[in-house]
Amino acid sequence: MRAAVDFPEPYRLMMREEVGSTNDELRALAEQGAPSGFVLVAHRQTGGRGRRGAVWHAQPGESLAFSILLRPTEPKGLWPRLALAAGVSVAEALEQQGAVVGIKWPNDVWIGQKKVGGILVEAGADYVIVGIGLNVNTQIFPEEVASIATSMQIELGKKVALSDVLAAVVSQFAMHCTQINEGFETLIDRVRQRCVLSGHYVSYMTAGGQQQGWCEGIASGGELTIRGEEGLRHLLQADEIRILR
Ligand code: BTN
Repeated sequence: MRAAVDFPEPYRLMMREEVGSTNDELRALAEQGAPSGFVLVAHRQTGGRGRRGAVWHAQPGESLAFSILLRPTEPKGLWPRLALAAGVSVAEALEQQGAVVGIKWPNDVWIGQKKVGGILVEAGADYVIVGIGLNVNTQIFPEEVASIATSMQIELGKKVALSDVLAAVVSQFAMHCTQINEGFETLIDRVRQRCVLSGHYVSYMTAGGQQQGWCEGIASGGELTIRGEEGLRHLLQADEIRILR
């Protein structure tokens, strides 16, 4: 990405040619006192990380890999909501380019049945790092993700400027991260409108093992609501959610 990018205050761009992981690099800066609003973009990540210890594959020049540093003033218990804010922001940025976007709770970003973007939120003592990976103009994916991944270019049939997508995500995020306390209903509605799990029978992993049930949507606190054999459950966290039917 070479073009200049306009961000709202206090967001500011920092670019690196190559890092291990933008989340790790930004965490080191956060520990040294970097202020809220730093946006670290890497042309290439040599150790991009996904959730649950997965590797995040990104093609230099074709995809976006960046992390945003926040020092939220809201109570720590509300910080996980930033993951939802990030998902909605990415979805809206892609929609500005003409895509029809879904959110697989909590914050995988889908076009059709495939993943176009992923988000990794990590907290420190007094900061949060929101890492975002987006397949923008990717055309060929590594074999292990080829059947489940897509890109904006594949879906829209046109190249999209990385700088435009980055600017749109940060601008939407600047607005939505203020809604994790007051205004959370508005944010949740935007997740609900795009929730790809609602109405489906799903399987998911919890600490108690694999479970199944009908997804009834998203509760007012942002939890996924599942009706299983044992009744209604509100999930704060669940891994490996799969749509069965
Ligand atoms: C996921 O869906 O598993 C989350 C993927 C998050 C990838 C991004 S790329 C920028 C930032 N740096 C990382 O190492 N990971 C995140």
